Amino acid sequence: MTTPLYAPIDLERLPRHVAIIMDGNGRWAQQHKLKVALGHRAGTETLREIIRNSSDLGIGSLTLYAFSTENWTRSKTEVEALMQLILDFFHSEIDELDEKNVRITILGDKDGLPQKQCEALKEAEIRTEKNTGLHLNIAINYGSRAELVRAAQLLAKDVQEGLLQPGEITDAHFARKLYTDGQPDVDLLIRTSGEMRLSNFLLWQCSYAEFVFPTVLWPDFDLKQYHACIAEFQGRKRRFGRRPDADE
Ligand code: IPE
Ligand code: IPE
Ligand code: MG
Repeated sequence: MTTPLYAPIDLERLPRHVAIIMDGNGRWAQQHKLKVALGHRAGTETLREIIRNSSDLGIGSLTLYAFSTENWTRSKTEVEALMQLILDFFHSEIDELDEKNVRITILGDKDGLPQKQCEALKEAEIRTEKNTGLHLNIAINYGSRAELVRAAQLLAKDVQEGLLQPGEITDAHFARKLYTDGQPDVDLLIRTSGEMRLSNFLLWQCSYAEFVFPTVLWPDFDLKQYHACIAEFQGRKRRFGRRPDADE
């Protein structure tokens, strides 16, 4: 694989799981005196590039926050524009993603989406479920609290059915009930646009993630900045609660 590197990245030490809060489409549209929907459309170009490049680099899991459970509170016009973009994205990208051996998983409640979107997402998951390349998670109608509540409900059901005693529940059991079942925790979380918050994204999976907050708005985020985020991650010292060697 010969993909150009725009920052000094060690391909042997890539983050296993990168998560991105793609933020700033609205401000980008405002800056360009465009309707917000065109900001979101511009954002999908960035999305394509980042997915392709993550696959070329050999990243294991990439999770993108596309629509939160709270985003339903936006105007009807904006929500409709986002739903249309989601549909367009799956229709136009699915062949190439499948060819690239990308496996797609949707994080969130698909059944709470309009029927066409729900079907397209389910189809994409089924079509790519045996692929072994990049594991692409797209969070749509996703909220981390809803995901955790759902996990608690599923565990309670297992207990009710006698499969498990309450005292036997471990964090591994819990992780298995999350949408990200079987995937590693997030190593690197990127949020564009300068906002520094999680906005109900992957609370469990980000327990020991390294956070990077580039100030650039999502439609302006490019491979140079993406690679800079990975290089920044590789320069961090992760401790996981341990005493760092130098202080021992
Ligand atoms: C992020 O861009 C995309 C979605 C939430 C769907 P925003 O629309 O939140 O952009 P800003 O934060 O208003 O600039
Ligand atoms: C988070 O961004 C959701 C997505 C990027 C899809 P928001 O723009 O909705 O988050 P807040 O409202 O600034 O916290
Ligand atoms: Mg925002």
